[in-house]
Amino acid sequence: MPAPPDNTSNLSAIAARLRTALLRESIALVDSGSATPAAVDTLVRTTIGRRLSVAGPFEIWEQIGWDLVQVIAGELLKDLSNATDVSPSFDSCLDHTDGGPPLPVLAAGTTTTDAISHVAVIGAGLMGHGIALEFAASGRSVRLHDLSPALLADALTRAEVGLRTLAGSGRISGADAEAALGRISTTTNVADCVRAADLVIEAASENLDLKKRIFQQLDTLAPARAILASNTSTFLPSAYAASTRRPEQVIGTHYYNPPHLLPGLEIIRGPATSDRTAATIGALFESIGKQPALLAREIQGFIGNRLQVALLREATSVVEGGLATAAEVDQLVRTTFGRDLASAGPFTLARRAGLETTRAVLVHNLPLLSNRRTVPELVLQKVASGALGVKAGRGFYDWTPESAEAWRAHMADSLLGMEAHQQ
Ligand SMILES: NC(=O)c1ccc[n+]([C@@H]2O[C@H](COP(=O)([O-])OP(=O)(O)OC[C@H]3O[C@@H](n4cnc5c(N)ncnc54)[C@H](O)[C@@H]3O)[C@@H](O)[C@H]2O)c1
Repeated sequence: MPAPPDNTSNLSAIAARLRTALLRESIALVDSGSATPAAVDTLVRTTIGRRLSVAGPFEIWEQIGWDLVQVIAGELLKDLSNATDVSPSFDSCLDHTDGGPPLPVLAAGTTTTDAISHVAVIGAGLMGHGIALEFAASGRSVRLHDLSPALLADALTRAEVGLRTLAGSGRISGADAEAALGRISTTTNVADCVRAADLVIEAASENLDLKKRIFQQLDTLAPARAILASNTSTFLPSAYAASTRRPEQVIGTHYYNPPHLLPGLEIIRGPATSDRTAATIGALFESIGKQPALLAREIQGFIGNRLQVALLREATSVVEGGLATAAEVDQLVRTTFGRDLASAGPFTLARRAGLETTRAVLVHNLPLLSNRRTVPELVLQKVASGALGVKAGRGFYDWTPESAEAWRAHMADSLLGMEAHQQ
């Protein structure tokens, strides 16, 4: 009688492939000169790793929608790593010490985060309201701008809920939450929003022409001292800094959703961004309890989206190959290495496993990985059939408004719990 299939070893083989996909892209990021191993580890541990310990890749992309995934993955797949051999830099990638990413440091007295007391946020949607509430909770006055009073009223309601959540978890007191809400003011007039700003964070809809227009306006309307930042997931600082006459004061600050519940974010230097701007922004975020990861050089997809798309490429390949269902992959990720990645990035995990062991895993798995450069069939099918994820009520899973809300609440509760334990 043939032996029954060994599901445990199947699953560990799949997990090894998924881990390897993430590590291959992590090494490529270091090799490109865009990020240090410490920056990759910090970003993963404080953002996508935390989310992957709660939900697998299909569940997570399902929130954003497969139509948008098609666009994001379509761009990034064109130049993700397809290495089949271990990079010569692999040993040195494991050679960094744990801890925060190296941020540029200027001589004492040349930069001060105290100078940033007025923050303006352009775009009060999903990300903008969370960015605003976090700065308000840090004691800063925040001006929030969007296109209509109704959008702004909705953002304030959501900010209030977010602040209450922080208070409910004990991260801030009820009185501080109330005071923070009082520090957020709103306006439909962009000039009014940025007139006194020391820092402007643009979090408007994802459209390059729109962002260029907004940066041109900000340059004209914000004080000369103000740093202009963008939360865009896609566009590089060079693309929007060129619309200003102060490209040295323009920088990318890429948060992850929910921005006030994840301690990590990416800071992306454009070619013209000055050391002073990068140091000021790095110090500012550290002073409000964030753990920023600095990219030394702009690169499409930054760290987080490149790694998430690399993981998705392998996950879809596993499902298309009939090795596991999407739900099985999700469960595998969140119960195995997703959990690990919430406390240590890919290089730290590799070092803990041992250099020779990890090298052997890479040598075995690199040739097995998907190298596709176009959007996976599985994603195209979901888009073609309208199964776009949460917003369509179906994707890889079925969703009702109630189940989607319960999913978000579960994610938020889980992230808050990690906050309490890992900070
Ligand atoms: N959603 C995410 O998970 C996520 C994560 C990281 C970064 N981002 C980026 O953050 C930005 C905002 O994304 P979001 O998810 O909050 O989108 P959203 O649609 O929830 O919010 C965007 C807001 O911008 C407003 N807006 C549009 N044009 C404007 C203008 N001219 N002036 C002021 N406001 C304007 C819209 O009315 C809307 O309220 C995008 O650049 C996106 O790529 C999103």
